[in-house]
Amino acid sequence: MAIGTFLSAALRHPAVVGAIGPSSRHLAADIVGRLDARPGQLVVELGSGTGPMTRALAAVDRAFPRFAVEALPEMAAATRRAVPGVEVVEGSAAELPRFLAERGLGRIDRIVSGLPFAAWPEGLQREVLDGILAALAPDGRMVTFTYTTSPCTPAGRRFRRLLERSFARVTRGATVWANLPPAFVYVCDGPRGAA
Ligand SMILES: C[S@@+](CC[C@H](N)C(=O)[O-])C[C@H]1O[C@@H](n2cnc3c(N)ncnc32)[C@H](O)[C@@H]1O
Repeated sequence: MAIGTFLSAALRHPAVVGAIGPSSRHLAADIVGRLDARPGQLVVELGSGTGPMTRALAAVDRAFPRFAVEALPEMAAATRRAVPGVEVVEGSAAELPRFLAERGLGRIDRIVSGLPFAAWPEGLQREVLDGILAALAPDGRMVTFTYTTSPCTPAGRRFRRLLERSFARVTRGATVWANLPPAFVYVCDGPRGAA
């Protein structure tokens, strides 16, 4: 059961998982709907967990995502169960440029992020954002979700500031209430330099 895998991982690694349960299909639909990914584009998912976003992406195009990156082996296994055939790389999203080079792939067109940025200290936020900025195409887009509580926390506010410094344009999506807890996305276009 995906929920069992998620809860067990969240209890053992709360700081890595940064959530109490997998995203709802409503949040997955919202994030994928804002991606504007076209056939043939290179789409990568970061922090796939038990795979709700992976499943929504694969429903749009079987070539999406080209691969997912997941830090926890048990979550990576859950993504593979959710979407058989998807490649899930076990490691940190900070190493994205290396994962691309190993596969002979160029810059990424679209990134779906389920990473718990708003729960992270500044050093980790910057490290992972720098990996993303080095991997995204100049006209690339990242869509990342966060919980509605995040603008109320110092780490959540810092994350928003880092995004605004790192991308030419950052827009906020509407709150998705049918998610526990409610969440919204940041749509980030046009990577600039390092965070
Ligand atoms: C908030 S959960 C979201 C999971 C899933 N995308 C969803 O929407 O239900 C965050 C996920 O990111 C993974 N993660 C945390 N830090 C990571 C990192 N540096 N690189 C890759 N994955 C990471 C966690 O293990 C967890 O599965």
